[in-house]
Amino acid sequence: MFLNLARLLSNGMEIKERRWKVPSLFWLPLFAFGALLFIVDVFQTQYNINPVRLQGEEVVFDQDSLKGFLIKTPGCRIPYMDPFDHTVKEFIHKEKKPVCNGGIPALFDSNLTSIYLLNSSLANYTDQNVSVLKCCYQPFHRQEPSEDDNDNKIQFDEKCIPFNITATITDEFIKVVCHINRAIVYTDFFSFVPIKTKKVKFETKPVNILIIGLDAVSRLNFHRQMPKTSEYLKNISSVELLGYNKVGDNTFPNLMPVLTGLSETELQKVCWNADNNHRFDNCPFIWKEYKSKGFVTSFGEDSSWMGIFNYMRKGFHEQPTDYMWGAFNRISENAIGNSHNMNVEECVGARQVYKVFLDYIKKFVTKMDLEERPYFSFYWGASLSHDYLNKPHLGDKHYYKFFRKLKENGHLDNTITIFMSDHGIRWGDIRQTYQGQMEERLPFVFIVLPEWYKGQYQNAYNNLLRNTRRLTTPYDLHETLKDFLNPAILHEALEKRYQDSPRGYSLFCEIPANRTCKIADIASHWCTCQQSVEVEKNSSLVIEAANFAVDYMNQQLEGYAQCSELTMNNITDARVMTHNEDILGGNEIKDFMIILETVPGNGVFEVTLRNTIGFNKTNQFEVMGTISRLNLYGKQSACITDFHLKLYCYCRSLLDLGN
Ligand SMILES: *[C@@H]1O[C@H](CO)[C@@H](O)[C@H](O)[C@H]1NC(C)=O
Ligand SMILES: *[C@@H]1O[C@H](CO)[C@@H](O)[C@H](O)[C@H]1NC(C)=O
Ligand SMILES: *[C@@H]1O[C@H](CO)[C@@H](O)[C@H](O)[C@H]1NC(C)=O
Ligand SMILES: *[C@@H]1O[C@H](CO)[C@@H](O)[C@H](O)[C@H]1NC(C)=O
Ligand SMILES: *[C@@H]1O[C@H](CO)[C@@H](O)[C@H](O)[C@H]1NC(C)=O
Ligand SMILES: *[C@@H]1O[C@H](CO)[C@@H](O)[C@H](O)[C@H]1NC(C)=O
Ligand SMILES: *[C@@H]1O[C@H](CO)[C@@H](O)[C@H](O)[C@H]1NC(C)=O
Ligand SMILES: *[C@@H]1O[C@H](CO)[C@@H](O)[C@H](O)[C@H]1NC(C)=O
Ligand SMILES: *[C@@H]1O[C@H](CO)[C@@H](O)[C@H](O)[C@H]1NC(C)=O
Ligand SMILES: *[C@@H]1O[C@H](CO)[C@@H](O)[C@H](O)[C@H]1NC(C)=O
Repeated sequence: MFLNLARLLSNGMEIKERRWKVPSLFWLPLFAFGALLFIVDVFQTQYNINPVRLQGEEVVFDQDSLKGFLIKTPGCRIPYMDPFDHTVKEFIHKEKKPVCNGGIPALFDSNLTSIYLLNSSLANYTDQNVSVLKCCYQPFHRQEPSEDDNDNKIQFDEKCIPFNITATITDEFIKVVCHINRAIVYTDFFSFVPIKTKKVKFETKPVNILIIGLDAVSRLNFHRQMPKTSEYLKNISSVELLGYNKVGDNTFPNLMPVLTGLSETELQKVCWNADNNHRFDNCPFIWKEYKSKGFVTSFGEDSSWMGIFNYMRKGFHEQPTDYMWGAFNRISENAIGNSHNMNVEECVGARQVYKVFLDYIKKFVTKMDLEERPYFSFYWGASLSHDYLNKPHLGDKHYYKFFRKLKENGHLDNTITIFMSDHGIRWGDIRQTYQGQMEERLPFVFIVLPEWYKGQYQNAYNNLLRNTRRLTTPYDLHETLKDFLNPAILHEALEKRYQDSPRGYSLFCEIPANRTCKIADIASHWCTCQQSVEVEKNSSLVIEAANFAVDYMNQQLEGYAQCSELTMNNITDARVMTHNEDILGGNEIKDFMIILETVPGNGVFEVTLRNTIGFNKTNQFEVMGTISRLNLYGKQSACITDFHLKLYCYCRSLLDLGN
């Protein structure tokens, strides 16, 4: 009884994930063929960027010397991996499109200024004449949370304003409700972009910043899943960072360095724990700098119940940016969210959430350009891609069209676009392969610069091209965002900027070829610049290391009586890694990367342990970075709120249930 329950709890999510594998076999031959074409088509050309010529100068990547490597510098080697390598191929399949709202279409749609009835949908709501339909819309807005409240408060206007067929909307967020004979037949939500700021005069021509994030997509998975978008980005001469290495486990520790230049721990000290309410109001977000220079700021995310600043966190007191879409997303998902799948609502009403989000972004960009307001915007999308390796494919066409529309309508002419992820998929079958483990640490990043910008800052642009083949990090993106704000600096002596080898470089300056993970402040656990070999799982050193790791987890859980003590059940993988910095320095340190399973709960963990020999000749171990959880904990850790310890805790209450 207990065992079954535990399995169900720990694997319930994964069972769902596996369920689609049966129909997937049907697609496999087709997809494999497509894949083959795709490898030949995209990847061959992708890796033949040799030489890159630009405005008289030449950035050359010697293809022969790169053989087998994506990044090959004295400080870092990242092996080339085939996106359809035989070790991961079995995990690639097609997912089914979600069916929103049981297939019933929306009754209303919106454009930049209005909502309007979709005549074609009327028959799905009534067989009577349109005049029986009584609709009204009710504006709402985010409310500042008081005291210790969570940042999820919404205030609706008192009045619901009646309208017929169409209405011009001047509010930011509205709820639409329609009755027929007093029964509610339709509820929907729409967002708009009313102008909130005064026009500001700029001395030099400002460039908009548009950051669009797609959660949990590795670089290789992006190419596997979104070939059309990838091809389009290539067509519009985007720059792809091939050696962008994550610096923390999940979304938060990988985005804070981008937005603030600080690590998660530094942020705690500087502003987050320093604030009595544990809110983020006083943190040094880059958008504050843009704001002070006169830019309009905008921050939006979907799946906002688990939002960057809200999941297990207290968010903000004051709204941090001029526009913030998260509140809209939260209320609409709560009210009419459907097709709930693992962690996300895939639909609100009749629409897929990610499409609603991209539509909003399009509205924002259009409105800002129309009203000549330069902007800094940061948008983070999780609803399409958060939980499934193969779901991003469902959004390929739509993302492609989204970028194409922006480009064709001139919205990218004066805009720097960064399309990026935070990490690859963090759990599931592929994570337990070597390639899956590498991919998890190498998210995708594309930067699209206006053509005139490349010409105006030639040296800077050439450095950016060079840096596509260097080890890069979220800290570098932050430094680059600072440069965008102050482009005059790009005319100065770029090679003299960083005399003191800081951890973050602007991508417009050449990153030293001898940069290592250590210098870039990437914990060994996340570092992809290393060579690793499998070692015997039963060697005494591996067993000693694994036991050390389990002890370490139990120590972390000390003081949490509600969590069971963990014991080791199995070691499923063991590797020894060597780092370039050690090779450079001549003294090799041994890092073991071990995948192990603990009971109760059958948690699967990946841990990096540094092995040194103490002066008393005994082996000593140190856990490097954080420990990754490779399968889902689901409800196993419901009895604890600490988001780090949730990874390890197996609630005792579940054991009692079994007895
Ligand atoms: C919606 O209405 C159309 C036209 O009457 C009909 O073909 C379709 O089956 C309806 N859809 C649903 C889900 O009821
Ligand atoms: C938006 O839709 C309304 C109602 O259909 C229409 O009158 C208006 O011209 C449209 N505006 C734009 C910008 O498309
Ligand atoms: C929808 O129906 C209304 C009322 O019958 C009409 O005024 C309007 O032109 C129709 N719109 C479209 C797009 O057919
Ligand atoms: C709907 O019905 C009303 C009265 O019953 C009538 O005046 C009107 O013309 C009808 N509208 C349409 C579009 O048929
Ligand atoms: C909607 O139509 C009804 C009947 O045609 C009319 O009485 C009412 O004033 C209209 N409402 C608005 C807000 O236009
Ligand atoms: C990219 O450009 C090529 C050559 O112009 C064109 O054939 C292809 O359709 C474009 N791809 C996309 C996705 O727009
Ligand atoms: C890396 O190279 C730079 C010169 O490019 C040099 O100044 C620096 O000392 C080197 N760092 C290490 C750790 O070797
Ligand atoms: C580990 O297992 C392998 C085969 O499973 C065996 O050949 C080897 O002797 C074992 N090593 C130790 C140290 O037990
Ligand atoms: C331990 O892991 C190995 C390799 O994944 C597997 O074959 C074996 O069945 C596992 N043993 C137990 C007791 O779970
Ligand atoms: C060896 O020394 C380390 C400290 O350097 C100490 O923690 C450990 O307990 C010692 N081991 C033995 C067996 O004495």
